[in-house]
Amino acid sequence: MQVSTPANSAKFAMYQDVCEQLHNLLVNERNMVANAANTAALLMQRLPDVNWVGFYFVDDEGELVLGPFQGKVACTRIPFGKGVCGKSAAEQKTVVVPDVSKFTGHIACDVASRSEIVVPLLNWGKLRGVLDIDSARLNRFDEDDEEGLESVASVFMASLVSDDMPDLSEEAAVPAVS
Ligand code: SME
Repeated sequence: MQVSTPANSAKFAMYQDVCEQLHNLLVNERNMVANAANTAALLMQRLPDVNWVGFYFVDDEGELVLGPFQGKVACTRIPFGKGVCGKSAAEQKTVVVPDVSKFTGHIACDVASRSEIVVPLLNWGKLRGVLDIDSARLNRFDEDDEEGLESVASVFMASLVSDDMPDLSEEAAVPAVS
């Protein structure tokens, strides 16, 4: 069990505040692009030491395609299983990479990035995309960030309604690989 320290309880409070602010920002809008754009912008404003925040969404081909983001230009498409985003998508799990130079297959969009976290976006257990955040600092993301950003992802997903989302049918769902 993780011991609560002043540092991580401050981070917990920060994520609670970010989630509340995000909910207020998204609650009256259901468009996925608009809400993803504002989520990326809010996270870029509020999170210290991050240099890229953005979305990749599952597209018709069953790979990830770039969505709204803040930061340097990024690769447009990432196949499932490739890079950190593709691993998170394939396994439908949050992936924390303390040092991207030690992650085989890492896709470098901004050479300044040293650590990274990718959170899957799930709707009733179905993968719709991932939220990707990079930092120029090694070991930037810990368990509190993981928990906090999974809450952020839930607030974002809850802001959407079915007709604004990618295909929700069983046929369109991409199964996880273990
Ligand atoms: N580093 C990611 C690619 C996306 S950029 O960081 C924006 C990866 O390895 O999947």
